[in-house]
Amino acid sequence: MTINSLDEESISLESSELEFIQKSYDQVQEIFERSCYDCHSNNTDIPIYGYMFPVNLYLQDHVSEGRESLNFSKWKSYSAKKRSTLAFEIVEEVEEDAMPPASYKLLHSKAIIDPETFQKIKRWQEEQERYYENSQK
Ligand code: HEC
Repeated sequence: MTINSLDEESISLESSELEFIQKSYDQVQEIFERSCYDCHSNNTDIPIYGYMFPVNLYLQDHVSEGRESLNFSKWKSYSAKKRSTLAFEIVEEVEEDAMPPASYKLLHSKAIIDPETFQKIKRWQEEQERYYENSQK
């Protein structure tokens, strides 16, 4: 095998992974945009300065801390293992009603996740898990 064909092989592997990430993410992107992006992405549009002290301080803290543990803007650059682990944590947090935080839902009722939407997230999570497991074979 020439170096060239090796290169081509790795390129096609990469693009099939990208395709998977894109397609599966398409199913949940809207949900996360509505309920999570304010704190877990680079394009947060929480109007922090529109809130009075100490609510603004509280929100500011939440945005930077939230982004550290999970940043959807970086989702497509996370490894299969990280995607699978995070998807699992996402399901856990939503199932336990810990995310989005209650204080946030109070201000943003559109962020509330109903059971049907949760099932979509759950299916997406299982897909991430299968993908990771298959990549280990
Ligand atoms: C108001 C801001 C805010 C919103 C909205 C929000 N989060 Fe978070 N999230 C945080 C903060 C702050 C942390 C880190 C500290 C903590 O665990 O409370 C966090 C942590 C997490 C973690 C990591 C938990 C851990 O134990 O490390 C996950 C997973 C998560 N959020 C998922 C979500 C999902 C999914 C949504 C949307 C359905 C969401 N969050 C919406 C602020 C937010």
